[in-house]
Amino acid sequence: MSDKRVLLIIGGGIAAYKSLELIRLLAKAGVKSRAILTKAGAEFVTPLSVGALTGDKVYQELFDLTAEAEMGHIELSRAADLVVVAPATADLMAKAANGLANDLASTALLATDKRVLMAPAMNVRMWEHAATQRNLARLHADGVRFVGPDAGEMACGEYGPGRMAEPEAIKAAILALLSDGPLKGKHALVTAGPTVEAIDPVRFLSNRSSGKQGYAIAAALANLGAEVTLVSGPTTLAAPAGVNRVDVESAREMLAACEAALPADVAICVAAVADWRPGAAAAEKIKKDKSGTPAISLTENPDILATLSKLGKKRPRLVIGFAAETNDVEAHARAKIAKKGCDWIVANDVSGDVMGGAENEVLLIKRDSAEAWPRMAKEAVGWKLAAEIAKFLTAKVRRK
Ligand code: CTP
Repeated sequence: MSDKRVLLIIGGGIAAYKSLELIRLLAKAGVKSRAILTKAGAEFVTPLSVGALTGDKVYQELFDLTAEAEMGHIELSRAADLVVVAPATADLMAKAANGLANDLASTALLATDKRVLMAPAMNVRMWEHAATQRNLARLHADGVRFVGPDAGEMACGEYGPGRMAEPEAIKAAILALLSDGPLKGKHALVTAGPTVEAIDPVRFLSNRSSGKQGYAIAAALANLGAEVTLVSGPTTLAAPAGVNRVDVESAREMLAACEAALPADVAICVAAVADWRPGAAAAEKIKKDKSGTPAISLTENPDILATLSKLGKKRPRLVIGFAAETNDVEAHARAKIAKKGCDWIVANDVSGDVMGGAENEVLLIKRDSAEAWPRMAKEAVGWKLAAEIAKFLTAKVRRK
């Protein structure tokens, strides 16, 4: 990473102090930062502290003749390998989404030809406001990558999503984006979302999975250059940029779509597959008639993770499962590795607000190790897991 450089735009938010830590972490990883500090950003951190850490001039004004003479704003926005906005305030997101260019930060964002990563940070109501969500969707469509925000207690005393991702998580996303597509030429298969099992043409059995974690993993893998097939049950999420999504409903359709997508170098089964389905879906809507309350008899669904793990010649080199548990998480997860024959399990405790929520707290269990990751946004889990997968698939010595 020693020749890599990021342009870090520091917006005006209480989280700006975390960007100082980010600059330090990047420097340790051999990545140089050059900073643009917005007017509002300078209310939270001083140009002196930013400059001391970057070891470079801090750029602040669009119409600064000295700065322009040294390096024009167009060149400034292109000299970096990656543009990072942290904290990305609601205002900076709105400007970027609408192509405004009335200060140095927004002009640099409009003039850049490099990838852009944003780490949003704002009050929860501002984050949830329809305008911000509209801007977010637009920026996603424009190819901007995101890390966070995390949910939690905010500086203003409110609780919810809006806290900037932790510097470690932002660093992981930056290193992944700077790493020149280590997964280029690799095919990744990801299952996500719930499955829907028909009772009759209008009723079904399903679960609370939102698909967010699987989509985040698929997006991170695509960002690392993988060709990604995302086999997804019904969700409200848009397909991440550069990902080939195959829509399915039932577990049996999901299995067939996975088998059709093979061969793959890695398979990650994140979907919350319904374990059972009604034995035979009624062809017509079941009516409330004299026969009383209908009984639904259930049949076991195929296990997609176990099937992919035991494929023989066609088995992906790395098969990863998720384990949704409510107690004795590690013990149950280890039992699942043994039972299903996969290589790694990402275990999480779903007794709290994980299902459908924005964050996850997981344990990455390999056959001979276990690593607890702190609670973080599901995107950040995606970045970290994608980095682990890249490390495994690109390692020179093939591990058993
Ligand atoms: N899984 C699958 N097909 C199934 C059931 C589960 O591919 N029919 C996968 C999930 O995608 C996940 C892993 O198996 O990667 C574990 O899912 P989980 O729901 O935690 O476990 P189950 O196998 O359903 O076992 P249990 O409900 O007894 O905990």
